[in-house]
Amino acid sequence: MIILGIETSCDDTAAAVLVERHLRSSVVSSQDAVHGPYGGIVPELASRHHVANVLAVIDAALSRAEIAIGDVEGIAVTRGPGLIGSLLVGLSAAKGIAFSKRIPLVGVNHLEGHMLAVFLEREIAFPYVALLVSGGHTSIYLARAPGRYRRIGATRDDAAGEAFDKAAKMLGLGFPGGRVIDQLARGGDGGAVRFPRASIREHPYDFSFSGLKTALRERLRRDLGVSFDSTGAVRAGALSAAWIADLAASFQEAVVDMLVAPTVAAAAELGVSRIVVSGGVSANSRLRQRMQEATGARSLEVHFPSPRFCTDNAAMIAYAGARRLERGERDELTLNAVASLPL
Ligand SMILES: Nc1ncnc2c1ncn2[C@@H]1O[C@H](COP(=O)(O)OP(=O)(O)OP(=O)(O)O)[C@@H](O)[C@H]1O
Ligand SMILES: [Mg+2]
Repeated sequence: MIILGIETSCDDTAAAVLVERHLRSSVVSSQDAVHGPYGGIVPELASRHHVANVLAVIDAALSRAEIAIGDVEGIAVTRGPGLIGSLLVGLSAAKGIAFSKRIPLVGVNHLEGHMLAVFLEREIAFPYVALLVSGGHTSIYLARAPGRYRRIGATRDDAAGEAFDKAAKMLGLGFPGGRVIDQLARGGDGGAVRFPRASIREHPYDFSFSGLKTALRERLRRDLGVSFDSTGAVRAGALSAAWIADLAASFQEAVVDMLVAPTVAAAAELGVSRIVVSGGVSANSRLRQRMQEATGARSLEVHFPSPRFCTDNAAMIAYAGARRLERGERDELTLNAVASLPL
């Protein structure tokens, strides 16, 4: 089956073409430059840029795949969760194509897309424990079969990606900042500052990252005597490059500790021998390394998508949609977007 995938849930406009579950093209148009100056995503700007870009991105995906629009046999589109104005742009484009070409449409949960992204590159046997760690979500699921996921833990406050982004903003590293922290941390000492590792005793698979952000702010303000500008970032020149690298590495070490321990413990308790880590933060090099070490020591398997399939993309949506279309699932053209769609 030839599937066109469309993803516009947040700030990336993306389209991809899959032929018999094999990826033929994946195009992502990032809006980082649009939102960077605001230090966060501005929903109204995100949807307006999706409107301007979505058709060109779809065209680019089709032409790179050397597939004519008339040969597409099904459309998979993200229907939630995400920013409602952003979701509606991709959904409307998908409906327009499905209607005019008389081909089936299927709505995909963005989180299922992340969860199955790893299958674009290799088949993994079910069941597995999935750590989904992104800009908006941090959860552990038991994936029993395609389409059968049970959430066993989630963050009580910030997502891990959000924590990285807020820390980066505080350190004056721009937005989004997860990747910058990852790069700078390579030249820093992860043991320079001991940040607190939060855990919730009665709910060992839940997470909490908001205290970490406060700890970083307090460390900067009280112990290092650093002041902040009106955007909440440290004043330019207030910290040496070496300190920034040490703080980035120490912050990252705390986040990684908080992610690795519960995930490995969940696999052990559930008697599952495979772990799949996905979502934007799964691109983090230290998380990948520490997860490999922790699972290797316990004879568990761990799998990550390639970095380009960790952050938002339409290939994962096309893949998740292809599996649904193959099972005979279809959605009506009345399908609506849902901002807080659960998995
Ligand atoms: N190498 C990295 N290390 C740490 N964080 C990273 C890295 N690369 C990307 N991120 C973080 O990943 C997040 C973006 O991930 P993704 O695109 O999956 O999220 P989203 O679509 O914003 O959220 P969601 O998928 O929950 O709706 C950002 O918070 C970004 O800082
Ligand atoms: Mg995402």
